This record gives sequence, C-alpha cells and structure tokens, in this order.
Amino acid sequence: MAQATFHFPSGFLWGTATASHQVEGFNQNNQWWAWEQQPGRIVNGDKSGPACDWWGGRWREDLDRACESGQNAHRFSIEWSRIQPLPDKWDETALDHYREMVRWLQQHNMTPMVTLHHFSDPLWLAEKGGWENEAVVDQFATYTRKVVEALKEYTNLWVTINEPNVYTVLAYISGAFPPGKQDLGAAMRVYTNMVRAHAAAYHAIHEIQPTARVGIAQHMRGFFPAHSWSPFDRLAAGFLHYVFNSVYSEALVSGVVRYPGRSVRVPNAKGTQDFIGINYYTQETITFNFLNPTGVLNQHQFPAGAEVAESKLIANVAEGMFYWLKWANKFGLPIIIAENGIDGFQDGPRVRYLIQHVHQVWRAVNFNFPVKGYFFWSLVDNFEWERGWNQRFGLWELDLETMRRRKRPSADLYAEICRENGLSSEMVARYAPDLFARMFPN
Ligand code: FCB
Repeated sequence: MAQATFHFPSGFLWGTATASHQVEGFNQNNQWWAWEQQPGRIVNGDKSGPACDWWGGRWREDLDRACESGQNAHRFSIEWSRIQPLPDKWDETALDHYREMVRWLQQHNMTPMVTLHHFSDPLWLAEKGGWENEAVVDQFATYTRKVVEALKEYTNLWVTINEPNVYTVLAYISGAFPPGKQDLGAAMRVYTNMVRAHAAAYHAIHEIQPTARVGIAQHMRGFFPAHSWSPFDRLAAGFLHYVFNSVYSEALVSGVVRYPGRSVRVPNAKGTQDFIGINYYTQETITFNFLNPTGVLNQHQFPAGAEVAESKLIANVAEGMFYWLKWANKFGLPIIIAENGIDGFQDGPRVRYLIQHVHQVWRAVNFNFPVKGYFFWSLVDNFEWERGWNQRFGLWELDLETMRRRKRPSADLYAEICRENGLSSEMVARYAPDLFARMFPN
C-alpha cells in the first residue's frame, strides 16, 4: 500500500474562521438582528439569539478546543455595532472584550486574523442608507482606526471586508440579506463604496501600524461552461466570473472599478492588498438558455459526480481550490485561504472535503504558490445568516438546547493535520478509506 505524507512549510497557519454575528449572540443593535425579527426572512423563522454565546464568554472554551487540537491561528470578526453603538458613542468595554481575545490568542501562540466587517452593520448605519451612502467610507475608516489603535499591540493581520461580492449580491440583487433590495444601481453604488472603504481602511491601518498586513477575504466561485464547445455557455460563465470574482480584486490592483460598460476611478485603492485572501467553497457549471436568458443568474448545476452537501448549495470540487490558488498567484502576493468548508449534520462529506481540499492546497504549495495559511469554516456550528440553524459547518456540533459542543470526527482529523503540519496517507486510510485508491493509486 502506498505511503506518503504531504508536508506543509514550517510556520504555515492552520486555523478556523468565525464571524461576530454568527457566534456572539444578542447582537441586537445591527441590521441582521432586525431582519431576523421579520417573518419570512430566515428559514424556519430561526433567530441568532444567544448564537454560540461568545459574548457571554464561551469564546474561551471554543478557542481552547481549537488550541488543544493543534490550531495555531484563528480568524474572527469585530462587531461594529458593539464598538460604535451610536454614531457619537464608543464602547470601551466592547473594545476590551476583543483585546482580551487577541491577547488570549497571542498567549496561546495562535495568530489572530481580525476581520473588521463581516456582513453586519450597526443599525444607525443601516438607517442612514448603509453602504449605499458614500458617508460609510469615512465612517468605516474612523471605526477601523479605533479598533486598530485598541488591538495593535497583539495583532497585525487584518481583513477589512469579508466577501464584498456576496454581501452586495445577496443584499442588493437577490434580496436574501438585509436590506433585501433588488436594485442593480444600488448594488453598484454599494460595491464601489466597499472598494473606497477598503482603500481608506487600508491606508488608515498602515498609518497606525506600519508592519500591518491588510487584505480582503473574497468569495471565489468557479463558473465554468457546461459545454465548452458552446460560445453562449462560455460567454455566460465568463460574464459571471468577471462580475462576481474579478471586478473587486482587480480594482484593488488598478484603482479602477471596471463594471461591464462603466468604470469608476478610485485611485487610492490601487495596490491596497498585502495578501490575497480567498474564501473558496464550490464551483458551478453554467448553461445558457435562450428561453430564459436571465436564468444564468440563478440556474446553476454542479459538476457531474461531485458530492453535494445536505443544503445542496455546495459541491465538493476540490480542484477548484487549486484553480483559485493558481489565479491568486498572479498577483505576486502572499495568499491566505480565509475560508473553506462544507455544511452537513452528517460529518462524512466534511471529512472527505477537508482531505481533498487540503491535498489541493498542498499541490499549490508545491508549485511554489506562496500560500501562507488555511482557515476552515468553521470551528463550531453557528448562525448561518438567512439559512439560520439549518446549515451546520462546525468541526464541533452545537446543541442549541443545552449549548453543549460535541466533537465531530472531522475535528479529530483536522487536529491531526494541524499537529503533523501535513496530511498523510495513513490519515486518509483511517478517516476516508473510500478516497484512498483515488489519492494514492498503486
Ligand atoms: C461565507 C461567509 C461565512 C459563512 C460561510 C458558510 O460566504 O463568509 O460567514 O456564512 O459562507
């Protein structure tokens, strides 16, 4: 039987990722909380409620689990509505809470990666037009300064905005996120403001902390033509790839937001990434249908044969991981996988997904793509936005009644990967024997 170990470079960051609104609980002062109170917004009428009770102190036990299981990094986000509950009010005790978390991480030799905006906005901001209103640019920079001043002693790895593309599409095109709009013009204003706000935050952070490493976490979704011979399928897939995956990232390189048919210059956004942050989950196959041309935006299939998650929203297409790392390599910057994962109350698909994706990351490392870290989504089941508690991503399962955590086998597997700083054929044989022959052909 073949034996191998896929080793990673020393110092490689192995962590999990979380986001404030999804784990903290009782974030009553943001637009998500308000949205959850409206009937019909969240699957089954679920609410975030106490979430994983991180604000109540359980962050410590969850991060303890992460640390004990060999993780040497953790990505989490700051809740803007807690730091700045009103436009003219700052909450120092909230800043203390996050200071305690980063200090704890540092003391446990875990590198913190801090996200400043992960989908949730203070109510006062939302009420003034949120990200549609250009005032958000200065407001975000002011908030950023406040956070960086408070935490700079303990961390220098920052994500300004999580998935500006997902936020914009879901909040302003599909309407599944608050404010639930379907308005292309508003979507473009929001997207442009997210470029401007990132740029302002990037410069603000570097003024305060010259050693900072600042980037975004962009959701990269593979869109490939169902029939490579069809110019229409190719055009449709290329269009989606361009607007969803490329526009924002390219703007941070060139300082120009190039929408199809219209460009907006944001000169101070040019060159504002110190690393490329990628959130990769899945890949889709696109068919152009003449009878339903707008269907390109909502009728997607997964590649034939790919294992599909319980939610039917994610398929395990691990080669896509390699594809995006290769894409990221062209920027000539360090690369961090800021999120990657699959949902399921059942853990089998998660185990296979983790093995196959880590394998692809290793392949990329061997092509000398400068991949510096991998953050699995997520540490513990948490409130999954408009899908509420119906989509479970945790290495640890959360019992909502008792708040007890129960370790899934994937947590043990990930612990072995983190401790070994690699993935071995022996782990594959134990955790996913059905993958063995494919990964290690004789
Ligand atoms: C990403 C989000 C994260 C979580 C995962 C499953 O798009 O950044 O908060 O919802 O998907």
